[in-house]
Amino acid sequence: ERIPFVEQLIGQMTIEEKVGQTAQITLDVITKGDDPYSSYEPLQMDNERIEDAVANYHVGAVLNTANNRARDIHTWHQVVSSIQNVATENTRLKIPVLYGIDAIHGGTYTAEATMFPQQIAQAATWNRDLVYQAAKVTAAETRASNIPWNFSPVLDLGGDARWPRIWETFGEDPYLISEMGVQMIKGYQGKQLSSATSVAACVKHFIGYSTLASSGKDRTPSEISDISLREYHLPAFQKAVEVGAASVMINSGLVNGVSVHGSHNLITGLLKKELGFNGLVVTDWADVENLHNRDKVASSHKEAIKLAFNAGIDMSMIPYNYVQYCDLLVELVNEKEISMERLNDAVRRILNLKYKLGLFDTPVVKPNPDIFSKTHNKIAYTAASEAITLLKNKSELLPLSKSKRILVAGPNANSMRTVNGGWSYSWQGEKAEEYAMEYNTILEAIENKFGKTNVVHVPGVEYNMHGRTYMDEHKVDFNAAVKAAKNVDVIILCLGENSYTEKPGDLNDLTISENQEKLALELANTGKPIVLVLNAGRPRIISGFADNMTAIIQTYLCGNHTGDALADILSGDVNPSGKLPYTYPMFNNSLGTYYHKHSEESKTPEGMYNYEGGFYQQFKFGHGLSYTSFSYTNLQVSQNELNNNTELSISVDVKNTGERAGKEVVMLYSADLYASLAPDVKRLRRFNKILLNPGETKTVTFSITANDLSFINALGQRVTEPGDFELTVANLSKTITLIK
Ligand code: IFM
Repeated sequence: ERIPFVEQLIGQMTIEEKVGQTAQITLDVITKGDDPYSSYEPLQMDNERIEDAVANYHVGAVLNTANNRARDIHTWHQVVSSIQNVATENTRLKIPVLYGIDAIHGGTYTAEATMFPQQIAQAATWNRDLVYQAAKVTAAETRASNIPWNFSPVLDLGGDARWPRIWETFGEDPYLISEMGVQMIKGYQGKQLSSATSVAACVKHFIGYSTLASSGKDRTPSEISDISLREYHLPAFQKAVEVGAASVMINSGLVNGVSVHGSHNLITGLLKKELGFNGLVVTDWADVENLHNRDKVASSHKEAIKLAFNAGIDMSMIPYNYVQYCDLLVELVNEKEISMERLNDAVRRILNLKYKLGLFDTPVVKPNPDIFSKTHNKIAYTAASEAITLLKNKSELLPLSKSKRILVAGPNANSMRTVNGGWSYSWQGEKAEEYAMEYNTILEAIENKFGKTNVVHVPGVEYNMHGRTYMDEHKVDFNAAVKAAKNVDVIILCLGENSYTEKPGDLNDLTISENQEKLALELANTGKPIVLVLNAGRPRIISGFADNMTAIIQTYLCGNHTGDALADILSGDVNPSGKLPYTYPMFNNSLGTYYHKHSEESKTPEGMYNYEGGFYQQFKFGHGLSYTSFSYTNLQVSQNELNNNTELSISVDVKNTGERAGKEVVMLYSADLYASLAPDVKRLRRFNKILLNPGETKTVTFSITANDLSFINALGQRVTEPGDFELTVANLSKTITLIK
């Protein structure tokens, strides 16, 4: 894309000026203090270091919040101004700096920002509009703080429950991910990137990050067939490119032994040429360096830069040492190892984005603290209340009457850190404990709802909240909890995980911790009914005690409003409507039990594969209960045959047959009965969330084309094959025929 202003600028730039634009440094490099990881306060910028990076080395971008020290909008204004002033006043071409941040569920950079449910919980709402609204607010608050670039959304498949970043995804289904991804991108970018309420999205991590076959640990190698890559991993990125996502971040890891950061095939071939992506491609943290240090696919730093740039990387996030990086890149261009054309292409993509964001006209805006409004928090609350998923409700224990005497137990009962998760005020989320004090923890919200005198709190197991190692459980007292249980009507047991992201969140065993399982079993022995509240970023295995729990609720990481939304659901003030965006595995050996895969879903009467007396899935993809009931009737298709030029419309009547108003997610699945490649058992094709009053019926209509029934064949091509397909909505189905 040629923008005359940018082309003119490129025409005037020296090689050094161009090269500098491709470097992104972390804020710690230009703040005062020798130890970037010290947490000294207040944050102080180092003007000499800014001058060196931005004026002398022409560095084009900055990220981060200086060891994630959360701060207010005014401080942010000073931080960004001090950098932009140098860029736009002390340099020859006055090119503003591009500031980026991980505001993945609301602002991570200031204590005032609205924190929404994390992506996995947003997916569990199955409500497109809420995802859009949350992104819009995040964009407005982030941009008002002078940060115009957001490293979000994650479009990786969230299928491997062991991966410590599964909660950063929209779950396991390619269609659900694409639909939610589109909403998030639109919410961030608005109509125009230059608007004061828009930020540039950065979809990540292209491609194949999430399938960590060997151990599930972060950034371990993936093995993905070409068919799987195109069938499951690619569609969301393709959709993102189609709707104009401004930037893409590359997967840090290896796919089939190939470092994605060095793959011309994947970056230039697939992303830029085949998908036609003309925006900015940025590396993940230090990943050019990693081609040499970690992956051993480049014999020196210089070779690594050459490999990455020639593969199609435009900007290097955290070159190991920006001075050395810039010098080496200049050498490579002078030696013609990287062509001027390639360098210009990278710089063009960077400057085009700065131009579209309006940074040349307005590098900084005046801080506006009024942006953080109550309305924003209302949206965050609604998203939390629609995400929380009721998984089990034996004998209709829930909702609880407000006069019940309650024991609140478990390590997740009284913390703002555990409900927010990682990337909340700080990388590992530990700052939430301090910065989100004005919001209610689960315990506080239950006390408010049911009355303090009705509630007793005995944790039984506690985390070390100040540790960076999130798994630390440093206090265990089962007896106290068991004793307290004797005097109550019901136990609300809050188990799960403390906050984490990336490598620090790696696990050796997906089973919930031994202490937590023991606490659950000891409390169950009291015979009191237990509501198990799961507050975790991934589905931790609970099969050792799930049967002993009377009710089970998944809260995921619903952000600052988790407590209030949960209390409203427990009391029945809100009717739950969240649905699982992933398959909840039952055993460590039943991972990869995606709902669409044949081996995991056979046609037994139970609808699941019965394996030596046990079921593979604890809860199915799309599962979620309500306090009311819905009936489905009258499934109709507009015609029984479909060809490549027709559209098929499918309608169904859904009735609320219970006594409360409730929201229902109507899902349409298709199954290819026979195909040249073993077909998926079923695939989600459409969904719609509707509100129904007691007794009310609504007709929901979907339309699909033959393309929706296509798949990647053995030759790696997307094809439609004639034959019969079963279309299913809830318990109803119709067979249609695809003809040539
Ligand atoms: O955006 C993130 C990425 O998802 C993981 N590594 C660091 C990046 C910047 O913070």
